[in-house]
Amino acid sequence: MPNVVVVGAQWGDEGKGKIVDLLTQDADVVVRFQGGNNAGHTLVVGGEKTVLHLIPAGILHPGKFCVIGNGVVADPSVLVMEIERLKAKGAFQDDGQLVVSLDAHVIMPWHKAIDVAREQAAGEGKIGTTGRGIGPTYEDKVARRGLRVRDLLDEARLARKVKERCPAAREELKRLGATSDLDEAAIVKQYAEYGRRIARYATDVSLWLHRALRAGKSLLFEGAQGTMLDVDHGTYPFVTSSNTVAGNAVVGCGLGPKAVDYVLGISKAYSTRVGGGPYPTELKDEVGERLRKIGNEFGATTGRPRRTGWLDALALRYAARVNGLDALALTKLDVLTGFEKIRIAVGYDIGGKVLDEMPSDPELLERAKAVYEDLPGWSETLDHLRTWDDLPAKARAYVKRVEELVGELERTLRAQGARILASAPVLVPPRADPRDVPSVRDDMAAHLRLFRSGGA
Ligand code: IMP
Ligand code: MG
Repeated sequence: MPNVVVVGAQWGDEGKGKIVDLLTQDADVVVRFQGGNNAGHTLVVGGEKTVLHLIPAGILHPGKFCVIGNGVVADPSVLVMEIERLKAKGAFQDDGQLVVSLDAHVIMPWHKAIDVAREQAAGEGKIGTTGRGIGPTYEDKVARRGLRVRDLLDEARLARKVKERCPAAREELKRLGATSDLDEAAIVKQYAEYGRRIARYATDVSLWLHRALRAGKSLLFEGAQGTMLDVDHGTYPFVTSSNTVAGNAVVGCGLGPKAVDYVLGISKAYSTRVGGGPYPTELKDEVGERLRKIGNEFGATTGRPRRTGWLDALALRYAARVNGLDALALTKLDVLTGFEKIRIAVGYDIGGKVLDEMPSDPELLERAKAVYEDLPGWSETLDHLRTWDDLPAKARAYVKRVEELVGELERTLRAQGARILASAPVLVPPRADPRDVPSVRDDMAAHLRLFRSGGA
């Protein structure tokens, strides 16, 4: 398989995990390049539901390698817990399967405390973070005062850095009106212990991947969150603190841009968003409630109910542009069964002026009223369908329309000869060469796989 990047084309929770799992069958190495345990992926291991937040699910497949790149912010307590939990279930027997970058920044107790305290202090204006310390850890990274995995492996160095950082963290917490009970000695002891448990996995990931590529291994880059949560390209400041777009895949693991052959975007057949921020197609009525219920739209990490709404063609087209998508897969089409009318946003009305492109100012987005195109729904269940032709005609028409809207509107990319393909509810067949899009398209009918609701 070529080296594929999988990214969310919306606000996260598109069902990337499911597609990554399928592609993992044909990849050798799964690479995480950004984010941390703000992500979540529900799996069934040994008949039991497990949520993995940091380690790619590829770890369940013997012989596959999972890499946590330098661009990830790793909470060592979560990493160690996931390792132990997997091992307790009899999974992840071979330690060689997990590779952790020595340069990944680590989430320390004060990062989590500051994240939570800040959100509490912000009141109405809060971001609605996952409270996992993601933002404060990236802040320290960029401010050049962070701790990295390598710092956990040397207790003296760890002690020095903890001692350096704690006073400022205490001050910050105090300023935010939070109690701070940071016990430096206890933290050093605990995190040195995590360091000892992680040491066998920690390495120079750039070199490791370089060698893997030279040995002919194929890489699958697993994005977390989604395009609209990207710190540069999302709805700033209602974003996460990392670059979630495909371009960051190589930066987050120490490879060059040519290591990527193919970029696959994932979108739900409707939309969801967790946390605050603009969301023009949000439904605050019983239709939205119905989507939430049928789609089981509750966060895998925080359990929060997700905001729900119709599909936004402008957001998808934007995602196609900023990620350089080669293809787009739609998930959870089955959730739309039974809706009489299905809507797609094709424009934003902002003060009487209708835009057909995502405005670059997110404050405009706050004021945008979605302009919809309506399509007739279908009532047939999509259960047990296996091929494109099995889909009810109206479901096919809906997918085709999405495909048209994303493709048609994608003039720039088209002019550049890029290939945009909105396909659903299908995945690029892993054995076809996805670089050859027309053939992928034909093969898709033969390899059609349905992506169902639940656990996305
Ligand atoms: P943070 O990443 O915890 O700082 O949260 C920042 C924003 O990103 C909040 O709106 C979160 O709800 C959102 N977010 C972070 N991770 C995910 C995810 O995996 N799925 C969906 N939303 C996420
Ligand atoms: Mg998720």
